[in-house]
Amino acid sequence: MESLWQETVQLPQFPQLQQDKKTDVLIIGGGMAGILCAHRLRAEGVPYILVEQNTLCSGVTGKTTAKITAQHGLIYEKLLRWFGPEQAKNYSLANQEAIRQYRTLCKEIDCDFTLQDNFVYAREHQQKLLKEFAALLTVCPEAQWEDRVNLPISTVGAIRFPEQAQFHPLKFIREMAKDLEIYEHTPIKYFDGNRYHTDSAVITAKKAIVATHFPMWNKHGLFPLKLYQHRSYVLALEGAERVDGMYVDEKDTGLSFRQAGDFLLLGGGGHRTGKKGGGWESLEKFAKRHYPKAAIRYRWATQDCMTLDGIPYIGQYSRRTPDLLVATGFGKWGMTSAMVASHILGDMVQGKQNPYENLFSPSRCMLRPQLAINGAESVWNLLTPTVPRCPHLGCALKWNAQEHSWDCPCHGSRFDEDGKVLDNPAAGDLKNRPK
Ligand code: FES
Repeated sequence: MESLWQETVQLPQFPQLQQDKKTDVLIIGGGMAGILCAHRLRAEGVPYILVEQNTLCSGVTGKTTAKITAQHGLIYEKLLRWFGPEQAKNYSLANQEAIRQYRTLCKEIDCDFTLQDNFVYAREHQQKLLKEFAALLTVCPEAQWEDRVNLPISTVGAIRFPEQAQFHPLKFIREMAKDLEIYEHTPIKYFDGNRYHTDSAVITAKKAIVATHFPMWNKHGLFPLKLYQHRSYVLALEGAERVDGMYVDEKDTGLSFRQAGDFLLLGGGGHRTGKKGGGWESLEKFAKRHYPKAAIRYRWATQDCMTLDGIPYIGQYSRRTPDLLVATGFGKWGMTSAMVASHILGDMVQGKQNPYENLFSPSRCMLRPQLAINGAESVWNLLTPTVPRCPHLGCALKWNAQEHSWDCPCHGSRFDEDGKVLDNPAAGDLKNRPK
């Protein structure tokens, strides 16, 4: 289903690549991260080409709730504990810089950009929220405590980050993509050395940036162990009471709220892809109870790549691939993280040191509790003797009755009723139509 953004903007179209090319930087993936990288490289005079296997923003960028914020759930207490005060501060600085960059770019672009305060609220366990607030006193002193928020639910408090932002992501992309060298319907099938092969051409590039949501090459980087996908749902309600600000529950399965023009965007119903969760049904129930006069105008679902420690993977794809870079694992914070990625990778391809390179390095320590959960999930689903099987690494697919799709609990590939691939990392369709 198309999102509010996709229904209200026509993006420019680009040709398919038909002939061999040489460039300094090949960017693979035409979502927000890829386009921001291309925009940055063009501004700095670095030759680049961007290729997209479908059409621009046909993946998660078209389905985001488009919040631009440095407040990513309750992440700072964890960052302090695992990485220390300097890196926790760096995480905040990298994201605050990203917001400033959007602010500058959006002065020239008509994309409904507005500054908004962001709130993370809790409905129970106030202690968790208080611990996060204590961590923020050193890392991000502008954060404020709120006893209550203006939402139709009871909470035990919230933390406010002032002057964050929201926008219409596709109005932004429509302008940003103009005049960039982009080829649509151009999937990269494989690479050997610095030669990247499409069906009809070879691109020779000194460096390549993989910005394809879930990285598609398994041979390097251990991404199937380091990532899983989380699915969540959105309703655009017309006639609901307006909200001022952007709100998200500290729990992964909780609700989010933001205004988009006349529509209230109500998000939630989330679950690990391939598992059961509330989905649209739970959002509809909530809307009926708390906004009885509102009408549902749009509904869509999205999915996010989640890392082992909550920090995106931005940098070298693996230690052994110095010329292959990656941007993935943005969690639910794709807009801000995409901008951070464009700066780190923009510097890396030019051989410049970036102050945030180590923090976001995909080769950092993997020893986190989520690693065991991902491993157990994969083993269980590999051993489950049901069909259909996922062509990515062979896990048992699960039927998603709400969306009529076959979903993989291991790494989040999805297929429609006819077996056509909907979401990566699977690179192709199911061999047989599932029964
Ligand atoms: Fe990896 Fe299905 S997505 S096995």
